[in-house]
Amino acid sequence: MCGIVGYVGFRNATDVLIDGLRRLEYRGYDSAGVAVRTPVGLKVVKRSGKLSALEGALKEEHLEGSLGIGHTRWATHGAPTDPNAHPHTTEDGRIAVIHNGIIENYLELKEALLARGHRFRSETDSEVLAHLVEERYRGDLLQALREALKEVRGAYAVVVAHGAHEEIVAARTVSPLVVGLGEGENFLASDVPALLPYTRRVVFLHDGDLARITREGVEVIDLGGQPLKREVVEIDWSLEAAEKGGFPHYMLKEIYEQPWVLENTLGGRLREEEGDVDLGLALDPKEVARVHLIACGTAAYAGWYGKYLLEALARIPTEWDVASEYRYRDPVVDARTLAIAISQSGETIDTLEGIREARRKGARTLGVINAKGSSLTREVEDVLYIHAGPEIGVASTKAYTAMLAAMVLLAVRFGRARGTLSKEVARELLQEMRKLPRLVEEVLERRPLIAHIAEKYHQTQDFLFLGRHVQAPTAYEGALKLKEISYIHAEAYPAGEMKHGPIALIDERLPVVVLATKGPLYEKTLANIQEVRARGGRVIAIATEGDEELPKVAQDVVYLPEVHPLLAPIVSVVPLQLLAYEIAVLLGRDVDQPRNLAKSVTVE
Ligand code: F6R
Repeated sequence: MCGIVGYVGFRNATDVLIDGLRRLEYRGYDSAGVAVRTPVGLKVVKRSGKLSALEGALKEEHLEGSLGIGHTRWATHGAPTDPNAHPHTTEDGRIAVIHNGIIENYLELKEALLARGHRFRSETDSEVLAHLVEERYRGDLLQALREALKEVRGAYAVVVAHGAHEEIVAARTVSPLVVGLGEGENFLASDVPALLPYTRRVVFLHDGDLARITREGVEVIDLGGQPLKREVVEIDWSLEAAEKGGFPHYMLKEIYEQPWVLENTLGGRLREEEGDVDLGLALDPKEVARVHLIACGTAAYAGWYGKYLLEALARIPTEWDVASEYRYRDPVVDARTLAIAISQSGETIDTLEGIREARRKGARTLGVINAKGSSLTREVEDVLYIHAGPEIGVASTKAYTAMLAAMVLLAVRFGRARGTLSKEVARELLQEMRKLPRLVEEVLERRPLIAHIAEKYHQTQDFLFLGRHVQAPTAYEGALKLKEISYIHAEAYPAGEMKHGPIALIDERLPVVVLATKGPLYEKTLANIQEVRARGGRVIAIATEGDEELPKVAQDVVYLPEVHPLLAPIVSVVPLQLLAYEIAVLLGRDVDQPRNLAKSVTVE
């Protein structure tokens, strides 16, 4: 969850650390700190608040040195205060530690350390690591960390510096860490964007890896002390792609990237002639008797959409769960169950644990993933990358549309392999998919109308979102986007369920966003709109171009180009993303870094 950066080389370490932390701030942002190896030993500066608070402090206290570690924090144990910010140091100040994750047995470790005379200065679980390393230190920092970690239970990406060593050492279990390789300098970070200004050659550390990073190179060992060889990967994301590209917010940039993201997701995979897709999966869909879709948040709504498609096109019984429920509900799984985990970051702990649970019970596994080299890619047998590029805005947008497109690809492949989907029907669907990037571009042109609607409704306290069938997940995703970045309360319901309770909420103050695009359930949705109108509710309809009925019953109508009803969610979510964005901007919210949220949730 937190951001980690490490540097050893010839540059001013403080500059590299701050630059890297700035690029990782989206991972967590309630405090930040650095430790730099100066000519008089390790010096630490840390501050609660945003990174700018730390930068302010560093203007007053210059840290000169070419080795350092830095951290942005998203609090788990202990409030976001200066003492709780990382790095944490030993009493003599010789060892500094930064940590991402949770040390589950920290209370017991802390008690034992206190009994042995250690004194603590923070309320964090992370500080125990500094004291444990200190106790185990016999001149070799990496070995000291390895010994210390033998006592630790939990998740960690941990990085350690020592005033007497020109090296940083690190280890990971669950929480990600990636080493960047330079010439006469090397880097470490919790995510790739921090490394891109300096290098594209990286080594992803695996679970259980420890690394020693010096100017000259990187040594990787396992917890048993055995040397390991790790592949060097060339990253093809441009730095430009990881930055804002002229937009005021990453979120808006990412919304506008959706046409090319869809090109990327579909790129080279559609085979209209054969009425099929080429996904390069090792798995044989004929061996699958049921599917379990597991994910969190926005990715979970993509999973819900996937359930409709897999059942409609491939006739596979499909269950859909949020991962935090799946892993504890003792699901019925056998060797013919395919568990599909969907994740942008590939680091969401609930999703990782969900897929592990399915695997323990004997399921086959597939990941629908954005981030290459992420932990989830190593947990599954097969990966279908969504190729959305780096997503920096905390609220997920382009990864969602890419996940939806990936769900269609999977359903088509499974339907064709299982003989439930004819070549002709598949071909028609694929031809429609080809049009998606252009259709999404058309929808983006509706932004002025959506800005006008936002202006009208941004002062309201509550919103309701309704949709049926494949548009039910769209309604939930629309409500989630609005909640996350505007802090306006928003509820979503399958439209047909409204009369069973939420209808009581409706009065003239409540805007109701209804996904009312053309499809088999259009008439039913229209009836639901009438129910809202009859109670004075104000309707914002998302409609198909040419629909003349909706303007008669809705206060506002956003028309979308016509598309196959099963694909409508891919186009329809875009105005909902824009609506949430415009409202959040009008309310002066921090769009890219909404309060209390972090980009990848690596705690349970
Ligand atoms: C919402 C959002 C979150 C994530 C969820 C899963 O805008 O971003 O709900 O979708 O935390 O994250 P990933 O896809 O990285 O597993």
